[in-house]
Amino acid sequence: MTAPLRLGIAGLGTVGAGVVRILKTHPDLIATRAGRPIEITAVSARSRDKDRGVSLAGFAWEDDPVKLATRDDVDLYIELMGGSDGPAKASVEAAIAAGKDVVTANKAMLALHGQELAEAAEARDHVIRFEAAVAGGIPVVKALTEGLAGNEITRVMGVMNGTCNYILTRMESAGLPYDEVFAEAEALGYLEADPTLDVGGIDAGHKLSLLASIAYGTKVNFGAMDLEGIERISIEDIRQAADMGYRIKLLGVAQMTGRGLEQRMSPCLVPATSPLGQLEGGTNMVVLEGDAVGQIVLRGAGAGAGPTASAVMADVIDIARGTRLSTFGQPATALRPARGAEASVSAPYYLRMALVDKPGALAKIAAVLGDAGISIDRMRQYGHDEPTAPVLIVTHKTTKTALDEAIAAMGKTGVLSGDPVAIRIEEV
Ligand code: NAP
Ligand code: HSE
Repeated sequence: MTAPLRLGIAGLGTVGAGVVRILKTHPDLIATRAGRPIEITAVSARSRDKDRGVSLAGFAWEDDPVKLATRDDVDLYIELMGGSDGPAKASVEAAIAAGKDVVTANKAMLALHGQELAEAAEARDHVIRFEAAVAGGIPVVKALTEGLAGNEITRVMGVMNGTCNYILTRMESAGLPYDEVFAEAEALGYLEADPTLDVGGIDAGHKLSLLASIAYGTKVNFGAMDLEGIERISIEDIRQAADMGYRIKLLGVAQMTGRGLEQRMSPCLVPATSPLGQLEGGTNMVVLEGDAVGQIVLRGAGAGAGPTASAVMADVIDIARGTRLSTFGQPATALRPARGAEASVSAPYYLRMALVDKPGALAKIAAVLGDAGISIDRMRQYGHDEPTAPVLIVTHKTTKTALDEAIAAMGKTGVLSGDPVAIRIEEV
């Protein structure tokens, strides 16, 4: 057997401790699969005294992750601290400069700095792998980079934030409003330290931007993503959507169009009977479509110690085996700039609004939609909420631009009470 691969792990929280646990549980199995032993030589975290549920005996300790990343007895640096900048980025840069390969679960860092880090690593013939950064335990980076390498990817879709899916499905099953379920999720410890990362769609957007880069051979361009969170989704919308046979999901979609790369992370209606529509709780799902393979659906745990550490170990074992893949599936210098699409692919929309209950109000709304070239598929006025009348409209396919113009024009009719809610209906 060849020389061991020596690991330095920075970050011993949920994921880091999970990686230590896997290596302690299956050393022989892993060594056999990797073709060489894999050993932890040094670790780093903020607190040396914290009980992490696993023994750290025999590992050297470094307070400073940059020092850990540059140690002579570390071949592979594993960054599991998190944060887009700060110690995570500084230590990864130091590891690359010191000639180490890198494995990370840090989607925020890669979404913002992935291109420069990949170029720096590849210029020195080193690799950065990040399976754990997208959809936790689901091997989607591998699926796109390797399994589907022979396909032109036509669409990437996914529910990639478990917390948001938990909130949306719990609202529906318990009939509870957003604020109450958000508080529940917080009490259960599901939310990131900054909850906006979850409910604002940012965390899921980071993940989608990484998949889009691999799928379309483009530089990661998180800044060009059309981003909207779940904060404005009401129990009323969830009920109305269910009544029509839909579920509301925080859905990411990336597709290359004639007008550029479309990247959207936003609440969408999907058919309740589709795989995405049936996804419950904190589970993730990624749907990949290729011209030769058709549609592939991957489902599994998107977070947690075991699933995320499982993905980290897949990268570690690949590197131990000598697999040398480019970070984003092709040399970083060959990735094209990702020109953001000027407008999204057209789709039907769900529109919910409250109208003042007087003659001609509905006719005015219908006229505005007609003037914007938007055709109505279904429309109903349900119940009465004096002095307003709730109205639900499902449009035929239209563009977001046309819809936004129509909504602006509706505001000038004098028959709206409050702002309409518009949610895209995605064909999945
Ligand atoms: P976590 O539980 O908060 O652990 C973070 C670890 O980093 C802690 O051990 C902390 O030390 C250490 N740390 C923070 N700042 C440090 C510094 N300046 N120097 C040394 N150590 C430092 O985080 P996590 O949930 O394991 O997440 C780690 C990474 O995995 C993040 O990028 C996250 O986005 C990603 N990820 C997590 C999951 C998940 O399910 N948790 C899923 C997918 C991806 P102390 O313990 O001493 O405070
Ligand atoms: N906050 C993330 C989620 C953790 O809820 O999916 C995994 O990235």
